[in-house]
Amino acid sequence: MFERPRSGERALLVHVRLDNGGFDDEGSELAELACSAGAEVVGIVTGRRRAPDPRSFVGSGKAEEIRDQAAALDADLVIFDHALSPAQERNLERLFQRRVLDRAGLILDIFALRARTHEGKLQVELAQLRHMSTRLVRGWTHLERQRGGIGLRGPGETQLESDRRLIADRIRMIEGRLEKVGRRREQGRAARRKAEIPTVSLVGYTNAGKSTLFNALTGADIYVADRLFATLDPTLRRVDLGGGQAMVLADTVGFVHDLPHELVAAFKSTLQETREAALLLHVIDAADEHRDERERDVEHVLEEIGAERVPRIFVYNKIDLSGQVPHVDPGGDGRPPRVWVSARTGAGIDALAGVISDRLGEDFVCGQVDLPPGEGRLRARLFALGAVLRETRQQDGRVCLEVCLPRRNAEILHREGLPWPQPVPYGFAPEAHPG
Ligand code: GTP
Repeated sequence: MFERPRSGERALLVHVRLDNGGFDDEGSELAELACSAGAEVVGIVTGRRRAPDPRSFVGSGKAEEIRDQAAALDADLVIFDHALSPAQERNLERLFQRRVLDRAGLILDIFALRARTHEGKLQVELAQLRHMSTRLVRGWTHLERQRGGIGLRGPGETQLESDRRLIADRIRMIEGRLEKVGRRREQGRAARRKAEIPTVSLVGYTNAGKSTLFNALTGADIYVADRLFATLDPTLRRVDLGGGQAMVLADTVGFVHDLPHELVAAFKSTLQETREAALLLHVIDAADEHRDERERDVEHVLEEIGAERVPRIFVYNKIDLSGQVPHVDPGGDGRPPRVWVSARTGAGIDALAGVISDRLGEDFVCGQVDLPPGEGRLRARLFALGAVLRETRQQDGRVCLEVCLPRRNAEILHREGLPWPQPVPYGFAPEAHPG
């Protein structure tokens, strides 16, 4: 039986550019992630391929090059910036005689390190178990002796020693516990709805400065670290905005490019908080050279979790590093406001609180409207207001629009014949027909 290699902290990174890959950061994010997990990055092997090799992902020549590099650099661990199949991971480990971790495994490990609340810990464990259950073969029995290394924290140390049935039992138990915690969270949300306190959720790429901004806006002192993923669980705090207006500010989990799907599934209830927020503050590191790509990555995740309809403010943070001055671009015509701040120095924070307050003052109506064929005038008005999020044409010529617009505009258009927007069920997308 194959002995799994010992895990360690000296990591060699592998980043392969695939021809269909789109934006490529040359592995810089992977290096940050690896440091976040506590690894010492000793080198990076890069390459290019048209498509992944089914046996080894990188192809046999490249795999040998990586093996030699890993040996020369005395790496304990080889981390791939890609999703590897269980078979690829195993073949590579056998060749390298070193532990191999793929991107999802690394991200799950970081989440395991950072989980702070009971719910967060359960969510990460569930994601890890689901990830590992696909990799469970007899070789895992040796993991029990390898406590605490990167990729082995969490369930790797405890329950994984035996068989799939044990894991399935544990998954069921955790799902049950999470359901209970989820119900409590739902009660909290219902209480907030009843008290009519809007929830404002901070979202953003990991390390953009969400926790620091949370502190700046609330005066609170929650855990902040110059590590990716310092925030794992939403931290809620009530903030008075003056004039009798209040909000509950929620600090949420940091996003990364290609969030592993096991995590998105496990974080369902946390992400629900984001989906149901009255307003999102999308925090962007203004000094990050990849800020446009990261902004798009976050918007993509928001779409994936069904939060694309929630109104938002773009907050460009860390202007003390980027050299900009605090200012506000009020947006309009469907463009969200943009605010430039430094959460660290406090510059622009008062202006941001003002924009949040204004934005919450505008009560939004979001939903779906069906327009009969030929109703071009109302459709044009909605587009002119920047209220249309998605348009689908039905076979019978009706137009189905997903809209989000200030209540006062909705009321004016309603008087002119616009049907009142109806809630869109999550995950529902009417069948599209071209034309
Ligand atoms: P995750 O929890 O990983 O998603 O991170 P986060 O978005 O909550 O970021 P966090 O607030 O932990 O900040 C990350 C790092 O950026 C910390 O070292 C902060 O001190 C630093 N930081 C945050 N805001 C600013 C800022 O306005 N200026 C500067 N110079 N640094 C900042």
